Amino acid sequence: MKALVYHGPGKKAWEDVPDPRSEQPTDAIVRIDTTTICGTDLHILKGDVPAVQPGRILGHEGVGTIVEVGSAVTTLAKGDRVIVSCIKSCGRCAFCKQAMYAHCLGDEGAPGVGWVLGHLIDGTQAEYVRVPYADNSLYRVPEGVPDEHAVLLSDILPTGFEIGVQYGATKPGDVVAVIGAGPIGLAVIATAGLYGAARIIAIDLDEKRIEQAKKFGASDGISSRDPNWRDKVMAMTDGFGVDVAVEAVGVPETFDMATEIVRPGGHVANVGVHGKPVLLRLQDLWIQNVTITTGLVNTNTTPMLRKLIAEGRLEVGKFITHRFALDDMLASYDTFSRAAETGALKVVIAR
Ligand SMILES: NC(=O)c1ccc[n+]([C@@H]2O[C@H](COP(=O)([O-])OP(=O)(O)OC[C@H]3O[C@@H](n4cnc5c(N)ncnc54)[C@H](O)[C@@H]3O)[C@@H](O)[C@H]2O)c1
Ligand SMILES: [Zn+2]
Ligand SMILES: [Zn+2]
Repeated sequence: MKALVYHGPGKKAWEDVPDPRSEQPTDAIVRIDTTTICGTDLHILKGDVPAVQPGRILGHEGVGTIVEVGSAVTTLAKGDRVIVSCIKSCGRCAFCKQAMYAHCLGDEGAPGVGWVLGHLIDGTQAEYVRVPYADNSLYRVPEGVPDEHAVLLSDILPTGFEIGVQYGATKPGDVVAVIGAGPIGLAVIATAGLYGAARIIAIDLDEKRIEQAKKFGASDGISSRDPNWRDKVMAMTDGFGVDVAVEAVGVPETFDMATEIVRPGGHVANVGVHGKPVLLRLQDLWIQNVTITTGLVNTNTTPMLRKLIAEGRLEVGKFITHRFALDDMLASYDTFSRAAETGALKVVIAR
């Protein structure tokens, strides 16, 4: 089959590789019908994720058709259309029992690491993929939901909702600020209304992204290039700060920004993946009764979000900005990696 293979920092190829084979009775083999690229794949290609070894097939998002199931798979069958979750879950370990699949102890990839596809085992940017613990790691696609909507359930929608909106403890009437309006920040913006956010402020360096954010439900947009950005945010609250400040970039500066706008008793929800130490102004924050959360997506809300999409209650088509054929994988990477010029959010790659 063909697959997108990582060959060390800065190097990738769309090349012939052996078809994946079933290794465990709990595995399924899925033919990939639709996949996409995540900002995390670009981090890997920069060499920021050293656990990814050269030779690894990338990708942790996908929708496909089951072509083979192991003897221990009981709830899925050949021919089923499924969403491949970015997180594996054995369904049996202590963390899975708490729905904290991000830390699944199942020994596939590495115990305690839920994200294995396109990281510790071969991923979804390929014609076929082996999915471990298929009963728990795959989700059926509801009738009538197109692949390109379902593929957003592999990663970005549960990530934005769980680690941004839920960990931020968003409640009705809240003012929510989202720093970083990439696909993840936009997923926070698109789902913050589910808990009744009254005002959603998108903050980004890129004017184009601020404009896009308004189509996803942001009520206001602020450029972080504006020297008065903080005063402008404070003026959109009762003067004491935002109830929820979500960091969706992953650099020290934006985490610091989140702590500067949160109100006493408010929440800072960090979603960004950080590669460097971050300053925590605890000398100012300790007296503010502020809660700071972090996390890797658990994907425990995937079934709920799937229901909202199936019922037309969560409109997600606007995440898709470009479409490619599987054989144009390299062109899709080129478009996605130049998002500031191309305006790319999610690129859909279909067979
Ligand atoms: N916690 C998790 O489980 C999880 C899962 C997936 C992705 N992530 C992480 O979430 C983060 C966002 O992902 P993405 O795909 O949306 O990334 P992205 O790079 O597409 O978007 C980041 C946005 O931040 C903006 N930005 C950069 N510097 C800024 C600044 N100083 N002020 C304001 N805005 C700024 C950029 O213009 C861009 O629009 C990444 O760090 C990614 O690795 C976390
Ligand atoms: Zn991802
Ligand atoms: Zn588990």
